[in-house]
Amino acid sequence: MNKSLTPMDHAKSVAATRAAQFVETGMKVGLGTGSTAAFLVRRLGERVREEGLKITAVPTSVQTADLAREEGIELATLDDVTWLDLTIDGADEFDGDLNLIKGGGGALLREKIVATASDRMIVIADASKRVEKLGAFPLPVEVIPFGWKATKGLIEDALSGIAVLGQEVSRRERDGAPFRTDEGNFILDLHLKRIENVRQLSLVLNQIPGAVENGLFIDICQKAVIGHGDGRVELVDIYGKSEWEDGEDLDGSDNMFSDI
Ligand code: A5P
Repeated sequence: MNKSLTPMDHAKSVAATRAAQFVETGMKVGLGTGSTAAFLVRRLGERVREEGLKITAVPTSVQTADLAREEGIELATLDDVTWLDLTIDGADEFDGDLNLIKGGGGALLREKIVATASDRMIVIADASKRVEKLGAFPLPVEVIPFGWKATKGLIEDALSGIAVLGQEVSRRERDGAPFRTDEGNFILDLHLKRIENVRQLSLVLNQIPGAVENGLFIDICQKAVIGHGDGRVELVDIYGKSEWEDGEDLDGSDNMFSDI
C-alpha cells in the first residue's frame, strides 16, 4: 500500500487502477470527475507515457480536462467523437442495481450526457459508496439560474407526492456564493434520506421547467469496480455477480473482465 494515502484514498486508487485496465488502445473514453476519477486520469496518463496507450478522451468537467491535459492524454469534445466506447466515473452512492447518485462535485450534467453516449459505463468507488437504498447522499439537481426560486418551489411541491424520507431542498453554496456548474447553472441539493422509487423521482424531477438534469443515473452503469482499504478490489455487475481480486497484480495485462 502507498503509505502516503489514507485507507479511503488507497481504496479509490486501487479501484481506479483496476478500472484503467479496461481501457485499450484505440478506444474513445469518457473521463469522470471527482477524487476517484482523478486517480483514474493519472493512471491512464501513466499508461499513455509508459505503455504507449493511445486513446481519445472526453472529459466531463473543466477540472478533469485540466488534469488530463497535464497527464498528456489526448482530448476531444463529445461532438468531435459523437460516441464513446467506455466511460469510467466515480459516484456518491450506488445500489445493488448499479443505479447511482452523482453530482457531489457538481458535474452531473456533463457526466450524464457523456455516460449515456457510451457503449458501457463503469463506476469506480470505495466501498463506503455502496448503499441498500439511494438517498442518504443529497441528490443534486442542476437548475438554470433564471427563476431558480420558482423551480425550487416546484421541486418541493413535487417531493410532497413522492415516497422519500426527507424533503429539504437547499441551493449549493461555495465560499459564500452560489455554486456554479461548468454550464453556469445552480445546483439544488435534495436531502431525501431515502428514495423508494428512483425511476419515478427521476421522471418527476425532469418534467419541472428549469430543472436541467438530476443526479440519478438509472440503467446507465454496467459494472462497479469497488476498492477496499486493504488493496482488494471487488468487481460487481448489474446481475449482482461479484468477483474479488487481491489487488496485488493490478498492473498485470491479463484482463479476464474485458468482455463486459
Ligand atoms: C462529480 O460531479 C460527481 O458525480 C463525482 O463523480 C462524485 O461526486 C464522486 O466523487 P468522489 O470520487 O470525489 O467521491
